[in-house]
Amino acid sequence: MTTQWESLANEHILGIAPYEPGKPTEELERELGIHDAIKLASNENPLSPSDRVQQAIIAALPHLNRYPDGSGYYLRQALAEKHEVTPDHVILGNGSNELIELVVRSFLKSGDEAVVPHPSFVVYPMIVQAAGGIRVMVMLKDHRLDLEAMARAITPMTKIVFIANPNNPTATIVTKDEVAHFMSRVPERTIVVFDEAYLEFAQGPGFPRHARAGQAGAQGRRAADLLQGQQPGRPAHRLRRRRRRLHRADEPHPPAVQRERARAGGGAGRARATSRTRWSACG
Ligand SMILES: Cc1ncc(COP(=O)(O)O)c(C=O)c1O
Repeated sequence: MTTQWESLANEHILGIAPYEPGKPTEELERELGIHDAIKLASNENPLSPSDRVQQAIIAALPHLNRYPDGSGYYLRQALAEKHEVTPDHVILGNGSNELIELVVRSFLKSGDEAVVPHPSFVVYPMIVQAAGGIRVMVMLKDHRLDLEAMARAITPMTKIVFIANPNNPTATIVTKDEVAHFMSRVPERTIVVFDEAYLEFAQGPGFPRHARAGQAGAQGRRAADLLQGQQPGRPAHRLRRRRRRLHRADEPHPPAVQRERARAGGGAGRARATSRTRWSACG
């Protein structure tokens, strides 16, 4: 008898459309007879790792037969010093992606709501869906996160709010004052995740610095800043492949697109997925 794997699978996971990887750049170049193609879909640094990073990787090679230090003892110490916190405040992940997943898996229960800006990092709604949560989507305004609309979208069921600062893909920020006003409206049981994966591109005076100042916590709200780190000894290319896989996967669409897809018979999985999505302050 053949096992019906789909009937055994978690239905929230079934609702996620599989990622279809594009061709490798080399293959595309060969086909089109071009060279030096740039893959705009991937947020990659065009510069190679610095000499110091390459030296550190080479120095670690003879020790790859050992497990890496899972607690990242020295890295956490160095990051804590840099951000003026204690090592207990620092959690390391395989990129910030894993930390976002950890937050969702640790706090979001099936049926809880997460407020998600749109368009923003595509992984937020996917992970919420995978955890059986309800995605409450809030459209951007003038390419910026609409914190007013996001505050209005919070209900007693809201467990997590995502703030990508700067936002991907629009490269806009929300300022210190806007964040302070927003935080004053967030209920005690709601966790606000500040995803600062692109922090280095936003060093202006108006940019909020939660990790350093801990202001959000001082106001009695819960805020989690995502700091980025890599586990020592993990091959970098594996990290990047994993990120691309999630980055390009399906994202939710505004209601008009959902209706269109439903009419076109988008499949049972898709219908289940969108039923756990709500659009807030949308048109
Ligand atoms: C806003 C945002 N957060 C997190 C990530 C994940 O980054 P990482 O490569 O550190 O997992 C990305 C990647 O594109 C992103 O755009």
